[in-house]
Amino acid sequence: MWKPSQRIKYKPLEDEWPSKQEAEQSRLFSGIDLGPIALEQRTWIPAMVPWRASEDGFVTEDVLDWYGRFAQGKPGAIVVEATGIRDVPSGPLLRIGHDRFLPGLQKLVERVHSESDGHTRVLIQIIDFLGIKRRPEREKYLQRFLQITDELRERVGVVDLQEQGVRDLLCAMEDEQLESVLNERDWESLSKGHRERVTDEHLDHIAELPQVLPQLFASAAERAKRAGFDGVELHYAHAYTMSSFLSSTNTRKDDYGGSLENRLRLPLSVYRAVRAQVGEDYTLGCRFLAQECVDGGTEVAESQQIAVAFAQAGMNFISLSRGGKFDDAKQPKLGESAYPYTGVSGYECMPGYISDEFGPYGRNVEATAAIRGAVRDAGYTTPIIVAGGIHTFSQGEDLLATDRADVVGIARQALADPDWFEKVRTGCGGEVRQCEYTNYCEGLDQKHKQVTCNLWDRIDRDEPGIAMSKDNKRRLTAPVWKPG
Ligand SMILES: Cc1cc2nc3c(=O)[nH]c(=O)nc-3n(C[C@H](O)[C@H](O)[C@H](O)COP(=O)(O)O)c2cc1C
Ligand code: SF4
Repeated sequence: MWKPSQRIKYKPLEDEWPSKQEAEQSRLFSGIDLGPIALEQRTWIPAMVPWRASEDGFVTEDVLDWYGRFAQGKPGAIVVEATGIRDVPSGPLLRIGHDRFLPGLQKLVERVHSESDGHTRVLIQIIDFLGIKRRPEREKYLQRFLQITDELRERVGVVDLQEQGVRDLLCAMEDEQLESVLNERDWESLSKGHRERVTDEHLDHIAELPQVLPQLFASAAERAKRAGFDGVELHYAHAYTMSSFLSSTNTRKDDYGGSLENRLRLPLSVYRAVRAQVGEDYTLGCRFLAQECVDGGTEVAESQQIAVAFAQAGMNFISLSRGGKFDDAKQPKLGESAYPYTGVSGYECMPGYISDEFGPYGRNVEATAAIRGAVRDAGYTTPIIVAGGIHTFSQGEDLLATDRADVVGIARQALADPDWFEKVRTGCGGEVRQCEYTNYCEGLDQKHKQVTCNLWDRIDRDEPGIAMSKDNKRRLTAPVWKPG
């Protein structure tokens, strides 16, 4: 993970935790409507992929335990991890692209409702993503995968040379020379692994995304509704397909790229298709980026217009994240894929404790407040959810009191201590196990390993019935809270 050059080390924020009575009277623990559903409190666990699904995308016992453990803390809402809408293999990531996934997802919903005694609402984040390949070995890429075109021959200065001759010449080049003769895209495919973009309109399956995605999202959302989820969050954030359509870096030549009006066309058409399928009486919103935090990326002024368009279209909530793009991701190791949280934008998405003068806390608040302001000025009351480095009661309460957001997203802090919500609500805030923003969890995510928190994954490992990680070293869920 990238770290700011200032390298200032931050400690968890100290807080004057509220008494039970103060918590009861607080804004954070007051209810809010999200379209047709009501949250009992304005707290929200944003989506977090834990790498616990089966290899073919089904809900496992470990998935149930993961969400069940969060539900024991009784937050206002839990958003289930990014779940794939297509019926294609995608490793141990949850999928919702076919009815065969329904029984597992139904169990997940039941588990959250029962473990929270009905206090927590459960939504699911649904996602589409494009193809990405691992970083290849140099020789293999140049001999097998690279397309030898006339343009390339010209740049190498060997217009009449047979394909194999060109390949051998390229293999013999130093990296610097090779970079100068390959086009930017081929060099990226060699040095980072090939990654599809929404602008690859020469590929049929990319050109036709605007025609196929609305129905894919709509079918997935309809399944989510049938599984009993209280709502659906369309994943329009970070490094994935829908975010790439919204991005100011989207230069598609058709009606879906270029101007903001064009870039909004597919996200709105997906929303409308989903809405038509699930009906008006179902909670439907999206997560998108307040700022992309990459060169040429979308800035707050455009995100304000995007949010107003979504509110106008009828979304029941808008959740805002920041950064998390492939554009500035670090070069992966050989045989590994690029990970969109390794550059500056990744830092802005999941800020760590080694930071700059601003620090890791609430970096997304200002942008969120500006976007919420624009939505309110346009006359819409759509609830706005903020996330990023929020882990004390005062932080949450303050940003609600100052009208900078309507619901407070707490991701890594909820992982560090799933009982945060119950502890704070019942006047036991002093017992919270505070997140230290070390990003150990995010490092596991990057390696596609089961995500845990280093503050608890080695504690009481001999407790009976504890599920352990594949390497048998870490417990998979946080120890049970024993008050006092
Ligand atoms: C392990 C891990 C997995 C994540 N997976 C997702 C995801 O599936 N979808 C998503 O929108 N954000 C994902 N995020 C980002 C979080 O939802 C959240 O925006 C981010 O961690 C910042 O909030 P925090 O400071 O409260 O942790 C993930 C974060 C972590 C740490
Ligand atoms: S590993 Fe635990 S303490 Fe570290 S950032 Fe993740 S949740 Fe927070």
